[in-house]
Amino acid sequence: MGKKITVAICGFGTRGAEAYGSYQLLRPEEMEIVAVADPRPERRALAVKEFGAPEEHCFASGEAMLAQKKLADAMFITTQDSDHIRFAIPALEKGYHLLLEKPISPSLAECVALREKAHETGRIVVVCHVLRYTQFYQKLKELLACGAIGKLESVVATENVAYWHFAHSYVRGNWRRTEDSSPVILAKSCHDMDILRYLVGKPCLRVSSFGSLDWFRSVNAPVGSAARCLDCRVKDECPYDAEKIYLTNPASGYFGGHRQWPLTVLTGDVSEAGIRKALRTGPYGRCVYRCDNDVADHQIVNLEFEGGVTAAFHLSAFTEGCYRTIRLTGSMGELEGNLDDQRVVLRPFGRPETVYQLDPIQDEYAGHGGGDQRMMENFCRLISLGGRETLTSIDVSVESHIMALAAEESRLHGGKAITLSDFGK
Ligand SMILES: NC(=O)c1ccc[n+]([C@@H]2O[C@H](COP(=O)([O-])OP(=O)(O)OC[C@H]3O[C@@H](n4cnc5c(N)ncnc54)[C@H](O)[C@@H]3O)[C@@H](O)[C@H]2O)c1
Repeated sequence: MGKKITVAICGFGTRGAEAYGSYQLLRPEEMEIVAVADPRPERRALAVKEFGAPEEHCFASGEAMLAQKKLADAMFITTQDSDHIRFAIPALEKGYHLLLEKPISPSLAECVALREKAHETGRIVVVCHVLRYTQFYQKLKELLACGAIGKLESVVATENVAYWHFAHSYVRGNWRRTEDSSPVILAKSCHDMDILRYLVGKPCLRVSSFGSLDWFRSVNAPVGSAARCLDCRVKDECPYDAEKIYLTNPASGYFGGHRQWPLTVLTGDVSEAGIRKALRTGPYGRCVYRCDNDVADHQIVNLEFEGGVTAAFHLSAFTEGCYRTIRLTGSMGELEGNLDDQRVVLRPFGRPETVYQLDPIQDEYAGHGGGDQRMMENFCRLISLGGRETLTSIDVSVESHIMALAAEESRLHGGKAITLSDFGK
């Protein structure tokens, strides 16, 4: 490791503070937060109090921070989906290297414009496709590369969002409307498109997709339900009841004294009284059948890659747990795994199977199968040592965005197959 890197964080929300800012608390010798921008005063106060950011460099907007001279080696762009580009382009022009949250942008033209700007300025742009950095996908990549299953022929991948997580983010929350954020296949699954591209190792040629918003609509509201869960007469039978999700249901896994995400999204006061107040007044207390959501709640994508490899991807809101699975079949064997179990099984045809049980995921950085932390390690080393090689450059990341946006185009047009070379243009 070389010298400590300095960072300016634009958007000190869940990702900016908890996923990436926290790396400073874990490895203070590698990274220092020297500036923060966020319109919410409580987030700026948090930056000063918990992360030691200098008060004079805490700004009420990314615009105000970018009006200053260059303040750090790198800028983290961790604002909402459609607010990435307007900060990313001027930051590159100012000379910052970027850690850029996915999706790059919901607009393909903006994704391409950013790629061009990165080339023009010669700055590094690392996109937060954190899954590539996990031990799990690295193990799969290594086994494929050494020919463990012969020639890769097909892949089946699933993204099980979990009923409560889907209700939180995609029905009541920030990613519920395409127009305000992105289609779910981009917002949630540009990761999965990226992983498929990574594992197959060849460009995707064509996609087709089906899916819809079926369940979280007013026609499915049960008799006796109300605009807010706190007033609902049938909430005992409803798994999406906000009181259960945020206060009592251990299935969501956040209630053993961990007053963190998703509770911190509802309110800065995560006491029971604070959460009840948020459920009474804020968006997260709304009935899931009476929100203004429009993103699909289940979707499948078929993909064809160069060389004839095929893949099928399945996203569903309707799962008990929140996990990803994958199965890769090849001419000489198959590989199967579950990211959240950290388990990969290799079955060479006609020979005994091998089970790879990977390291348990550390508590502090459970985020994305350990990928959040491993990406941060990688990013700090890259900027500190002046390297250029990254697993998730802007160039490779744009490809996954084209795949996801083409899938959405197909879904909206009856599932017709889309040729990516035409779509990309
Ligand atoms: N890599 C991943 O796996 C992953 C996971 C979750 C979310 N994300 C992405 O990360 C991004 C941020 O998500 P989040 O959950 O942290 O959202 P968030 O709402 O918690 O954080 C966004 C922050 O930006 C701030 N902000 C708003 N306007 C601003 C402005 N003009 N200048 C500076 N800051 C401003 C908000 O106040 C908020 O604190 C989104 O694009 C999301 O899709 C990525």
